[in-house]
Amino acid sequence: MIAHRGASYYAPENTFAAFNKALEMGADMIELDVLLTKDGVPVVIHDNDLERLAGIQGKITDTDYEEVQKIDVGSWFAASYKDERIPTLREVLIWAKDKISLNIEIKAESVTDKAEGGIEEKVIDLIREYEMEEYVLLSSFDYRAAERFSHLGSEIASAILYDKDQSRGKTASGLIQMYKCDYFNVNWRYLTLFSFHKPDINAQLMMVYTVNSRRLMRKLIRKGVYGIFSDRPDLLKEVADKEISERYG
Ligand code: G3P
Repeated sequence: MIAHRGASYYAPENTFAAFNKALEMGADMIELDVLLTKDGVPVVIHDNDLERLAGIQGKITDTDYEEVQKIDVGSWFAASYKDERIPTLREVLIWAKDKISLNIEIKAESVTDKAEGGIEEKVIDLIREYEMEEYVLLSSFDYRAAERFSHLGSEIASAILYDKDQSRGKTASGLIQMYKCDYFNVNWRYLTLFSFHKPDINAQLMMVYTVNSRRLMRKLIRKGVYGIFSDRPDLLKEVADKEISERYG
C-alpha cells in the first residue's frame, strides 16, 4: 500500500519490479512510457499491443482500465514475476517521489490533434499534483506532443525524441528551437546523422539511448553528453566513476 496526502492507492508489491531493480543498480533516472487506456487513464507500459507481454490480442488504447489492471505482464518474463501488473502513472509518481527522477515518454499512440484534455495535459496535471515538476523530463516521438509541453507545462523540462520522418532534414538545434524543448534525445545509431564529431548542437543538450556497451558509454561521457540511457545502469555508473576519477584524480 502506498499512501500519499491521506489518500491511499493499492499497488501490488511486484508492480515495480523493474523500477526497484533500477534503483538498486544505481540509476539516477528511470525512463518510462505512458499510454492512455480506452477510458483515458494514464498507465505505464511500453507496448500498446498486449500480445508480447500478456499473450492477449488487443491494445491498451482499446481496453478500459478496469480490465487493464487485471492483466498479468510478468509471467512471460519468469514464473517468479507472475501477476506483475501495469501500474497507473499516478501509482508510479507516488512510488518515485523522494526516490528517483523520471523521464516520462508520451507514446505517439495516445497523442491526438486535440490538445485540450489530451494525454499531455493529463500527465502534466499528475506531475503537478505530486509536485514532481523538478524531477521529471517529458519527451515524445510525436512532435505535436513535444510542441505542447512548453505551452502546457513550461516549468517542466522536456525533450524532443528524434524522428527522421517528422524532422525533414532539420538540424538538432533547429528542432530544439522550433519545438521549444530543452533537450534532444536520440538513438545512438543516428548520431552520425548529426555529424557527432562536429555537432550542430551542444553535447550537453543531448541524451543518447540505449547504450549498453562500455566503449560507447566512455566515448559519450568524453563528448560531454547530458544523459545516457542504458539497460545497464550499474555498468554506466562504473564507467562514469572511472572517467571522473581519471580526469579529476
Ligand atoms: O525514450 C526513448 C527510448 O527509451 C526509446 O524509445 O519508445 O522504445 O521507449 P521507446
